[in-house]
Amino acid sequence: MTQAVTSQVVILDYGSQYTQLITRRVREVEVYSILLPGDATFKRVFEDNNPTAIILSGGPNSVHVEGAPSVPDGFWEECEKRQIPVLGICYGMQLIVHCLGGKVEGLGKGEFGRMPVVDIPTHTRLFGEDIEPQNVWMSHGDEATVLPDGFKCIGKSENGCVVAIEHETKNLFGLQYHPEVTHSEKGMRTLKHFLFNIAKCERSWSMANVLEEQIQIVKEKVGETDHVICALSGGVDSCVAATLVHRAIGDRLHCCFVDNGLLRYKEAERVMEMFKGELHLPVDCVDITEKMLSELKGVSDPERKRKIIGKEFIECFKEYKKTVEKKTGIVPKFLVQGTLYPDVIESCPPPGSDQKHSHTIKSHHNVGGLPKELGFELIEPLRVLFKDEVRRLGKIMDVPRNFVARHPFPGPGLAVRILGDVTENNALETLRLVDEIYINAIKEFGLYDEIWQAFAVHLPIKSVGVQGDQRSHSHVVGLRAITSNDGMTADWYPFDPKFLQEVSNRITNQVRAVNRVVYDITSKPPSTIEWE
Ligand code: XMP
Repeated sequence: MTQAVTSQVVILDYGSQYTQLITRRVREVEVYSILLPGDATFKRVFEDNNPTAIILSGGPNSVHVEGAPSVPDGFWEECEKRQIPVLGICYGMQLIVHCLGGKVEGLGKGEFGRMPVVDIPTHTRLFGEDIEPQNVWMSHGDEATVLPDGFKCIGKSENGCVVAIEHETKNLFGLQYHPEVTHSEKGMRTLKHFLFNIAKCERSWSMANVLEEQIQIVKEKVGETDHVICALSGGVDSCVAATLVHRAIGDRLHCCFVDNGLLRYKEAERVMEMFKGELHLPVDCVDITEKMLSELKGVSDPERKRKIIGKEFIECFKEYKKTVEKKTGIVPKFLVQGTLYPDVIESCPPPGSDQKHSHTIKSHHNVGGLPKELGFELIEPLRVLFKDEVRRLGKIMDVPRNFVARHPFPGPGLAVRILGDVTENNALETLRLVDEIYINAIKEFGLYDEIWQAFAVHLPIKSVGVQGDQRSHSHVVGLRAITSNDGMTADWYPFDPKFLQEVSNRITNQVRAVNRVVYDITSKPPSTIEWE
């Protein structure tokens, strides 16, 4: 991808839930890695990406089933010719065995979960010095029963399955387990050994390089006179993207923060203060609260709400484009977007989903996205980065820590957290107060960074309570907190009951409109993170 990067690992995705994790693990040790779909062409793998090493991922298929995904024609010969080491993980290992003349069979047993690898010989190339038995994370149905010529078994499971193999002379290696997950005790050591000692990768992937390089790319793309606009959401991605572009082209960047009336407690003030005071980014705040709330009045259907919000946002942006044109005398040509790598990866979809390789992001998440007819060229300086990398990039640009570590917030804002008509019953005000108390308590108890996202929800029901010796008939609010890697799946966060008790007391004491607090204990799936 870059001049600065001297080593690049290509990961071929066969659909395992852990594939993105492999990509991140490689980057964590400062080696650039990219994820390509398992059916990527020969040209894409070798010519476009010139890999230093290749990792074949896991996946849910069986290699011996007709139509199972495989490597492109000429793959093994090319790896040998260019001396590119290959590590197959799980399905990837079975692919090596199957393609090179061995046998993979489904014997109906399978191995799942944590278990030890034993029988590691004293001299292996893949394990280096790690010859003691080690606990690993297994997840397979099929197993290698006959190894291809030239391969030897370098590790077995307790049940006697072959779980690690290597070629006697060629740089071909396979692990039946998942070294990328933390449950595999020495998995990361094995991966590092493969990358640095076998593939001789160099550590050349750092956020400082990315910053320098992206600034250069933006400068070249925008030239000396063009203008750029950016819609800031108050989230970390658009903030880091804008800060980077501002470094590249200075005040030819025009940022717009839209107060759509659906933001959290004092959000617009706080965000504007940070942009101006700490980041010295010029930002125009456009307040469309009145228009937005009048459009949303009487609307309860979640999809209609999202559509209305999206439409209003676009109208507002069209106006902003004109404002910039008036101010500078130049039509802004470029638009900055905080698109991240998980949004552009062509992930392998689950079998039976009837999808070809496609983006995993849900279309409704592009509410803040702008339609083509607005006629911008896009600048997406974070396209190659994962969220944690964006946070690191923000840090080296001195974006304040409490901002960089913020929980995600949805484009349609509190509208998807007020079930029913958002304009009724003072719901926005109530929810803002409850959310603020809840989030402040999470911070006070030191839990904010452990949680991926936390928020309150205003429910469309009232219940009976006793407040100040009097019967009350007031609102119920729900609290949600989840842990997740990417928002695609999530677990509910197991707060200590003392914490929940404290928060519930604070809410019912400080917010008169609420007399009942409930905690959401559903994971995703089957729920989603937001309630609408
Ligand atoms: P769900 O509710 O689909 O949410 O499990 C997954 C993640 O996406 C966020 N989310 C959105 N973000 N526009 C956004 O920018 C949206 O319309 C939207 N809907 C959900 C949600 O907060 C969670 O982080």
